[in-house]
Amino acid sequence: EDVSVKAMSWIREGELNLIERLSANVLKAGPVPKHVAFIMDGNRRFARKKHVDRQEGHSQGFNKLAETLRWCLQLDIPEVTVYAFSIENFNRSREEVDGLMELAKLKFLRLLDERDKLEKHGVCIRVLGDLTLLPLDLQQLIAKAVVATREHNRCFLNVCFAYTSRHEMANAVREMAWGVEQGLIKASDVSEALLSECLYSSNSPNPDLLIRTSGEVRLSDFLLWQTSHSCLVFQSVLWPEYSFWNLCDAVIQYQCNHASIMKARELHQDEQRRQQLEEDDHACVAELLRHHGNGKPADGPRRQEAVAEYAVRREARVKDFLDALRNKRDSFLTQLADSQA
Ligand code: FPP
Ligand code: MG
Repeated sequence: EDVSVKAMSWIREGELNLIERLSANVLKAGPVPKHVAFIMDGNRRFARKKHVDRQEGHSQGFNKLAETLRWCLQLDIPEVTVYAFSIENFNRSREEVDGLMELAKLKFLRLLDERDKLEKHGVCIRVLGDLTLLPLDLQQLIAKAVVATREHNRCFLNVCFAYTSRHEMANAVREMAWGVEQGLIKASDVSEALLSECLYSSNSPNPDLLIRTSGEVRLSDFLLWQTSHSCLVFQSVLWPEYSFWNLCDAVIQYQCNHASIMKARELHQDEQRRQQLEEDDHACVAELLRHHGNGKPADGPRRQEAVAEYAVRREARVKDFLDALRNKRDSFLTQLADSQA
């Protein structure tokens, strides 16, 4: 018998009751986050509290994830990112790590069974992390799941698995070094914006709201780059006990801070653009003119023109590099998905 059929679904049907529906409508009258990230913490404490085994705690944690995804859709939140397995979690007992790998296998199998339902709801599932750290059969399953849903575009679930933020950033730097080595970009093309594009999260906007449950007030190496201007909410509830009201509470905290978050973001964006155009490109052009201009200082208009031309060429280089990077990643996934277990 196919065990995956019995496993709890990723998509849980269900309606809000009247009071929940009213509350959802009140929240939706204000700004709603478009992207929410969760550190789903407290599964083992929940298990201990309920006198069930650890694995059951994690399993109920998954069920809560499916329920939370439905609430997010009901609140018009189209994108969710969750921390499902940190690279640091490999240091847990052999038994627990194996248990989490088994749970993931079961759920990604189930996901493949539910393809039609996912298509109907337009759910795109991405897995962010270093897949090569995982058992090969799980890598293949994940690749199949990601490939099966990659064209869907109504809502997005990013599952961080074998992930830490520092690992992701180091990987992004390695990708840029590869680009320089391949002659696709110049070392001087490296910028904040380019690094963002090389992260596993490059297809998503930054989270508006990050929620951690279980009362721990740390980020634990989760989305450090992406959350510099996000609203951070720490809640004491254990993840398997998370409720619709906990989610509403976090959204209200986001709404109370919305204006200052938006302002901080705009300031940062302006600064990033200014830095690229007015400092980085100018510096590169100045260097070029020193080499090719027989030492004569270029006049203002000529310099402006040269900077504009330089920016166009830089953007073309960067685009080609990012296309090559995307191809490299796509073919890694496709080959993995097509390989036999
Ligand atoms: C943190 O609680 C939770 C985890 C390390 C695992 C989270 C995984 C899930 C909820 C299942 C998701 C699975 C898929 C396939 C998406 P903890 O173990 O740190 O508990 P504690 O803080 O009480 O010790
Ligand atoms: Mg924990």
